[in-house]
Amino acid sequence: MASDKLAERKPNSGFKPNLLGIFVAFVIVAVAGSVVVYSLSDWTAPEKARQMPNPFPPTPKAIGLGMSTYQDRCQNCHGGNGNGKGERAEKLSIAPSDFTDGHAMSKLTDGELFWKISEGHRPMPAFQGKLSEEERWQLVDYIRTFSQPLVDSPAESSAPAPDKDAAPR
Ligand code: HEC
Repeated sequence: MASDKLAERKPNSGFKPNLLGIFVAFVIVAVAGSVVVYSLSDWTAPEKARQMPNPFPPTPKAIGLGMSTYQDRCQNCHGGNGNGKGERAEKLSIAPSDFTDGHAMSKLTDGELFWKISEGHRPMPAFQGKLSEEERWQLVDYIRTFSQPLVDSPAESSAPAPDKDAAPR
């Protein structure tokens, strides 16, 4: 009787499409695809990130703290004076940005710099999980000093922009 039972097995019991497996494979392909697209895409911060105000304005203290984080985490690529020529720079597929380029830096908002530091862009690592928000904003404050002279200008001042800014470009 036992052998009869074996013969009663449903003929197609082995054929069950593994929906979970298909789903997982789909997700992997989708994620891998978007990573490729992302790394090929240009590195543009979303508008909301661009507009984000800096909650840690460049006080001497914030800049000082930013400097020590920079020396630890950024200098080997971006260089001690921010010109993008750190020791590791030559071995990278993309040259690190030059923070001494005042023209390029002036086009970037604090929010955008913060976003870029947080997200990274190959070969630059993302610092979101590695540094606190405060540390990342302090870095923004510090890397601005490579292209901007240190002046203590009251941020809330309603005074008109200094004359030098009105000079022809
Ligand atoms: C492994 C080398 C490496 C390290 C470490 C690194 N960067 Fe970068 N960084 C790069 C490269 C390369 C680029 C240019 C990427 C691109 O244009 O796609 C870049 C770009 C940037 C930009 C964008 C500037 C612009 O012009 O848009 C900022 C801001 C920046 N890095 C800040 C930092 C800070 C702050 C740190 C330290 C916390 C850091 N980076 C650490 C390699 C590095």
